[in-house]
Amino acid sequence: MSMQPGWMMMRSLSKDGSVRDAELPPGTTARVLSYAKPLTGPIVVFLVVVVLGSMTVVATPLLLARIVDDGVTPGNHGLVTRLAVLVAVLAVAEALLGLVQRWMSSRIGEGLIYVLRTQVFDHVLRQPIAFFTRAQTGALVSRVNSDVMGAQQAFTTVLSSVVSNAVSLVLIVGAMAALSWQLTLGALLLVPVFLVPARWVGQRLSGLTREQMNLNADMGSRMTERFNVAGALLVKLFGHHETEHREYADRAARVRDIGVRIAWNRSVFMVSLGLVAALATAMVYGFGGHMAINGSLSVGSLIALATLLGRLYGPLTAISNVRVDVMTALVSFSRIFEVLDLPPMITEKPGARPLPEGPLSVEFDHVSFAYPTADQVSLTSLEATAHGDRLGGGEVLTDITATVQPGQMVALVGPSGAGKTTLTTLVARLYDPSSGAVRLGGVDLRDATLDSVRDAVGVVTQEAHLFHDTIRANLAYAKPDATDAEMEEALRSAQVWNLVERLPSGLDTVVGDRGHRLSGGEKQRMAVARLLLKAPRVVVLDEATAHLDSESEAALQHALDHALHGRTSLVIAHRLSTVRDADRILVVDEGRIVEQGQHEDLLAADGVYAELYRTQFRQARSVVD
Ligand SMILES: Nc1ncnc2c1ncn2[C@@H]1O[C@H](COP(=O)(O)OP(=O)(O)O)[C@@H](O)[C@H]1O
Ligand SMILES: [Mg+2]
Repeated sequence: MSMQPGWMMMRSLSKDGSVRDAELPPGTTARVLSYAKPLTGPIVVFLVVVVLGSMTVVATPLLLARIVDDGVTPGNHGLVTRLAVLVAVLAVAEALLGLVQRWMSSRIGEGLIYVLRTQVFDHVLRQPIAFFTRAQTGALVSRVNSDVMGAQQAFTTVLSSVVSNAVSLVLIVGAMAALSWQLTLGALLLVPVFLVPARWVGQRLSGLTREQMNLNADMGSRMTERFNVAGALLVKLFGHHETEHREYADRAARVRDIGVRIAWNRSVFMVSLGLVAALATAMVYGFGGHMAINGSLSVGSLIALATLLGRLYGPLTAISNVRVDVMTALVSFSRIFEVLDLPPMITEKPGARPLPEGPLSVEFDHVSFAYPTADQVSLTSLEATAHGDRLGGGEVLTDITATVQPGQMVALVGPSGAGKTTLTTLVARLYDPSSGAVRLGGVDLRDATLDSVRDAVGVVTQEAHLFHDTIRANLAYAKPDATDAEMEEALRSAQVWNLVERLPSGLDTVVGDRGHRLSGGEKQRMAVARLLLKAPRVVVLDEATAHLDSESEAALQHALDHALHGRTSLVIAHRLSTVRDADRILVVDEGRIVEQGQHEDLLAADGVYAELYRTQFRQARSVVD
């Protein structure tokens, strides 16, 4: 194929030297090859095309030699024309082969990206919620993106550069030796003169490039953090404009200086590459010219030698760095495999059965729970940059035993940090208990199908989240085939139809982070509407703690009456009206149930509940009662 442009060689050279010695888990290579297997067809075509392309690189100079020696020198017009046409045909063939090679290479590369990307996305989504509480989203996203791209790039360049350069090198050296072994030897003696400084520049470049990438990543995450509303607000409120500016400018200046040094090193490399090639050409003509005069070398061969020589150093450089290229590819792949190998903690047992039909009871049977440690749920390599703490979680819930009968509403109350939210996450099987069992309708959640648990349990969290999408799309998340009429009814029951009705685009209004801003109470009612559409048999509700004005308070109350009616429900209560309506109140403190019963009885007992009532619930009375 046509000679590699200089920067292609530099890409090779600028690779991180350290990856050569990276430790790879056994079986990585075999696993990478398993990804190549479905692409066998395109890969074979690609390799054949690459080999044919390399052959044209050598064939053209040899044909030129024939034109001079057999056509021009003896004055054979016919042969000159025929050979010139052949050279033209070869040029067209080379161009076509180049197109096919690029087409195949992008098919292989994009095919690989598609598979890796979809696998990683699917796998990460299957991770337990604990994984997401630990992983720094930005770092995770950029890691997944850059590794997938890196693996693809390395895979196709290794494939093409190893094969095409190896073939080119053998053919070029072979052809040169056949023309004149003495001159070939001379040219090869120049190789170390070139390779030694090339490697040195390569190492410097790899260090500089890595530093530049780190700085750029750092500036990027700084901007992401500062350029959103919350970050910008902090900067302004604390008056840190100057410091922010200085820190950013420091990094930008270093990126600038490194950029200049990288460009300089590259130029030195390119200029010396040109210099060596020019010196070699001088040598070939210097010695070869005398040989041609003496008759030991034909003029055509001399020209061919000089042309071939120009194509020798590129593949040589690339080949000398093949090991680094291969290792870089393997490292990218192994980092992706690391993600794919994270075990999903919540899995469906073989032979799992669906939950029984009809109203369901919720039963906690001697449940204890500790949040999983970092080692269990996150990527070590990601965690190192994201968090410092590697501590395991202590026990958050201890020996909880309680039952919510079908159709009952049970309120959970307790001081902040007592473990109320944690207890409710077990009902939706976001986590499995460390010991004991959580049962719905008498079936241990670990024996039930995941789908039936997701269908049966509906959750409204304290910080209700809406996707940055239309209201319609957010509601359809609960019930994809919901009609407009059903949505309207759900919104009415949740006491937010008034609001939606007033919006200019109605159901098609974009809400969420960057869309129409909803207040905390409106968001929660929207989440209740979503829950109503889902119509789960078990409802888990974490009441918003934020003080609502009396109107939204009353609205939310109506919404909840609808949502909870006829359903088994577990409500983390912050409002007096909820605890009063509850069939039973569980008082949680430091991970244990310390009291249970009804409002009046618990007040009379004058324990933790009575204290909570005095501090937390009583002020709310004026609003609610
Ligand atoms: N994802 C988590 N990882 C580790 N510990 C957590 C996590 N979430 C909550 N905790 C800890 O568990 C305890 C109970 O928290 P939580 O159930 O949210 O309390 P409550 O809802 O009663 O205020 C707290 O000490 C809290 O720090
Ligand atoms: Mg909570």
